[in-house]
Order: sequence, then C-alpha cells, then structure tokens
Amino acid sequence: MPKNKRHKSYPAIKIGRFGVNSNFQAQGIGNMIVDYLKQLFVDNNRTGCKFITVDAYRQSLQFYKRNGFEFLTIKDENDDTRLMYFDLIKIVSQ
Ligand SMILES: CC(C)(COP(=O)(O)OP(=O)(O)OC[C@H]1O[C@@H](n2cnc3c(N)ncnc32)[C@H](O)[C@@H]1OP(=O)(O)O)[C@@H](O)C(=O)NCCC(=O)NCCS
Repeated sequence: MPKNKRHKSYPAIKIGRFGVNSNFQAQGIGNMIVDYLKQLFVDNNRTGCKFITVDAYRQSLQFYKRNGFEFLTIKDENDDTRLMYFDLIKIVSQ
C-alpha cells in the first residue's frame, strides 16, 4: 500500500481457536475450512472485510503459508505466535 494512501486500520476478521481433531488432521479438512471461510467473505460479503488475520502458532505457520497467508511484520519473528493475514482481493476476481 503506498504510504500516502495508508489508513490507520483496515476491516478484517480474525481466526481464533482454530483446530481440527487430531484423529482427522492432515486429511485436507483444515484447507477446506479455510477455503470455505475465504469464500464466505467474498460471496455476498455484507461485512466489508478485506482481510482474514490470525495469530498463528509456530506449528501452524506452514499450514497458513500454504493457504496464502503472509506475515504482517518481522517484529514477532521470535514470538510464540505470528500475526498473519490473507488479502481477500486475491480471490475476488477468481
Ligand atoms: C493447523 C490445523 C488446523 C491444520 O488442519 P489440517 O486439517 O490438519 O490441515 P490439512 O490436512 O488441510 O493440511 C493443509 C496443508 O497444510 C499442511 N500442514 C498442516 N499442518 C501442518 C503442520 N503442522 N506443519 C506443516 N504443514 C502442515 C499440510 O501438509 C497440507 O499441505 P498440502 O495442502 O500441500 O497437502 C491442524 O493441524 C490443527 O488443528 N493443529 C493444532 C491446532 C493448531 O495449531 N491450530 C492453529 C491455531 S492458529
């Protein structure tokens, strides 16, 4: 975002407490839920949300990266969780 066009805040939703039962992990269920969530905020989006955000645990960073999420900052590089975001514009025109 060009600096002179930046806002102080952006409309976003935050994923909280996301988990797949350990008996069913690594079967594509997490991917399906994230895809469904993205689509919810693109089709008939009445919220105006532009981003999906998450405070991702270290063990789930790869999962979110594979789902198109990016790191917001490098300041939390050594923290237990890292703030990541998905820009819904990526799928709006698909
Ligand atoms: C993270 C979590 C939600 C992913 O759900 P899942 O159903 O196991 O994920 P999927 O089977 O859909 O995997 C999706 C992709 O992410 C990858 N992935 C999933 N968990 C991963 C992990 N721990 N490390 C590396 N890659 C991982 C898979 O290999 C897969 O890659 P692919 O699409 O190239 O095949 C689930 O593992 C979980 O509940 N973990 C414990 C709780 C947690 O950490 N939640 C996140 C809170 S921020």
